[in-house]
Amino acid sequence: MHHFKYRDGELFAEDIPVAELAARYGTPLYVYSAATLRRHFNAFDSAFSALPHLTCYSVKANSNLCVLGLLAECGAGMDIVSGGELHRALAAGVDPEKIVYSGVGKRPMEIEQALAAGILMFNVESTGELKRISDIATRMGRTARVSLRINPDVDPKTHPYISTGMRNNKFGLDMDNSLLAYEQAMRLPGIEPVGIDCHIGSQLTSIDPFLEALDKIVAFGERLTALGVPLRYLDLGGGLGITYNEEEPPHPTQFGEALTAALKDHPMTLLLEPGRVIVGNAGILVTEVVYTKTTPSKEFVIVDAAMNDLVRPALYDAFHAIGEVKKHGRPDKNVDVVGPICESSDFLARGREMPGVEAGELLAVFSAGAYGFVMSSNYNSRPRAAEVLVDGEVAVLARKRESYEDLIALERECVE
Ligand code: LLP
Repeated sequence: MHHFKYRDGELFAEDIPVAELAARYGTPLYVYSAATLRRHFNAFDSAFSALPHLTCYSVKANSNLCVLGLLAECGAGMDIVSGGELHRALAAGVDPEKIVYSGVGKRPMEIEQALAAGILMFNVESTGELKRISDIATRMGRTARVSLRINPDVDPKTHPYISTGMRNNKFGLDMDNSLLAYEQAMRLPGIEPVGIDCHIGSQLTSIDPFLEALDKIVAFGERLTALGVPLRYLDLGGGLGITYNEEEPPHPTQFGEALTAALKDHPMTLLLEPGRVIVGNAGILVTEVVYTKTTPSKEFVIVDAAMNDLVRPALYDAFHAIGEVKKHGRPDKNVDVVGPICESSDFLARGREMPGVEAGELLAVFSAGAYGFVMSSNYNSRPRAAEVLVDGEVAVLARKRESYEDLIALERECVE
């Protein structure tokens, strides 16, 4: 459930007409709903209330400071994957003891920064990384709490680009090597193995792959405990899907119930790293129709948002619902909604049945809160969109629209 609803044919973000936001802040514009963010976080987090747990929101899904700050206020921890995300999380006031650090390529400086900040733990993805963390922690006179990320070789049945827990993915350690890695972790100075971690993929629409992974991880955890590894945390990663189109993912409550049943006899604290399920449907991308164009074979709706603003359709052939900001009641047409970028992959929708629209009208691209703005770029020298957070009747400019000056600010002219 989200708070982007039509009232008499006009789209509202909570209590503000979306057209008013577009007039105030321009387009393309990302609009987030604070009530939806709170609702999604609380629904997810409370689904695990019967277990000792910590919900670490996955910063990569939407890292705007206002979003992070709001979630931190709700009690969220954070899952980070870079020094930049650590910087954002700390700037947003997140308690470092609620931060977990995942990712296959943590650089020495990033490890140092995370140790200095006193994060809860590193999710370690290779023995090289384990050794490096040990060296750095020892040099700094610190102890790094670590979990090893296990690759449970489970098929999450999602898009191949966002599957991460299968044998040939780059993520984590396979079970056999993990055993040796835990033995190593027990011996290395500056390292305290405290947990076990996995993340099998994103946009999962069934609970079964999670349970399959959990089974393997729990069984493996029992072997580790028998070997004397003092496991306190079990991190199951993120990945719960949302409805973009006709998907019917489990509700967080069902997800919580299934995991609670599977883990009720295990004393470990459960960590979860949800991203999309918290922010995905809490954001829309508002765009203006620049032209409509009819060719012998197609009808195009050319809008001012492009693949640089929302790359998911181009990259994953992802579906995002698109609706008029003010319904005009024209008959449906079959159209491609495309941006101004010079590539045929620059589309937001292809072969979509939607009411006819005219230049100057506004469209809303739904479910754009996760992996939307964060994956945007300046391709074709397009300044990045503004982001607005709406809370009831109040809108806050959460990120200014980039200017042409911003586009060249870090460059220099190389000719006299
Ligand atoms: N934890 C780890 C270690 C991850 O790699 C991810 C996502 C998450 C948590 C959060 O997963 P979520 O709950 O959001 O599914 N750009 C793609 C999604 C990439 C996901 C990468 N990892 C998209 O637009 O669909």
